[in-house]
Amino acid sequence: MNHPLSQIIAKFSQTFSEKPALVRAPGRVNLIGEHTDYNNGFVLPASINKYIYLAVSKRDDNKIHLISVDLNDEYISDTDSYIQHEKHWADYILGVINQFQKNNYSISGFNCVFSGDIPLGAGLSSSAALECGIAFSLNYLFGNNIDKIDMVKLSQKAENEYVGVKSGIMDQFASMMGKKEQVIKLDCQSLEYEYNPLRMDGIEIVLFNSNVKHSLVTSEYNTRRQQCETGVKMLQEKYPQVSSLRDATIAMIDEIIKPKDEIIYRRCKYVVEENTRLLEGCEDLRKGDVIAFGKKMFATHEGLSKDYEVSCEELDFLIECVKNNPDVLGARMMGGGFGGCTINLVKKNSIEKLVNTISEKYKAAMNKDITTYIAQIEDGVSLITI
Ligand code: GLA
Repeated sequence: MNHPLSQIIAKFSQTFSEKPALVRAPGRVNLIGEHTDYNNGFVLPASINKYIYLAVSKRDDNKIHLISVDLNDEYISDTDSYIQHEKHWADYILGVINQFQKNNYSISGFNCVFSGDIPLGAGLSSSAALECGIAFSLNYLFGNNIDKIDMVKLSQKAENEYVGVKSGIMDQFASMMGKKEQVIKLDCQSLEYEYNPLRMDGIEIVLFNSNVKHSLVTSEYNTRRQQCETGVKMLQEKYPQVSSLRDATIAMIDEIIKPKDEIIYRRCKYVVEENTRLLEGCEDLRKGDVIAFGKKMFATHEGLSKDYEVSCEELDFLIECVKNNPDVLGARMMGGGFGGCTINLVKKNSIEKLVNTISEKYKAAMNKDITTYIAQIEDGVSLITI
């Protein structure tokens, strides 16, 4: 199959006469810190070598002409009469347009042809990539000079308000702000961030896509958010200074929540533990102790599966398969959950053997195929010059 970049260029020139600007927006991995972003905690993501590619141009009128090459579908409207929830894929773009308008940024008609190689529903944030790619493109086309962090925020708002998923800020931040060979340690409360080089000689980030996407994703995601908020409210009765789970300790939740509500207790305990794991894990990485870091990834999986309950049979199986394998230093489910990918730190020389074994075992147990990706850490959203 043709590369998505060649496809969008070909489709654009068949459809429109002008020369487009070309943009690419990456998906992301997250090493540790899952379901912590909307709890004002820390995350450790990086943008990777899987992209949404966009060919965009300004028009002389107010028309919006969007073409999804992969879905072989288009959406045509104009800047003052587009309709929400008419086409699911268009919502990610229209949501960003909507945010531009709400913020009084300059915008008028434009053409956009896009395609990508970020697998959908795999937990690699194809939606955030599309939102960030559009925000970047519209900022470029209409000369708004919007700060990158503001584009991150408005892309997240597009997802929260227009698409209707109450996601945190991690995915958009990673897609927009990513840097080659660096992971981003992001404090989701203050939005302070630092780039840390990943020092893992001889080890690769291997993603196993379970190729399942359970339909619970959005509703259960939003429920988890609410459960965390309920936990915060319970804590506030005695500890008014707690404004999010970021401020909570295990001692507090043991004292206040444990005797009252077992489910809320497990959700909150996981989040507090995960924040600590992330901070300690960053120290491990700074010291180059990948073994200690990897153990924390396994512990995260355990927490996500048993306490936060966002895993599924297939993901648990994939982690079980690698758990006692000395070639796999760490592994866990990644992203929102209920399907998608596991992230594994694997010794380079044994990747091939591992892929063969896991594929066979997964097929035998689940009657499904896995897809494998080796993630390389690349720069965030950028213009492409060819
Ligand atoms: C999804 C959301 C993110 C984050 C993760 C879980 O990817 O979009 O904001 O909450 O799930 O860590």
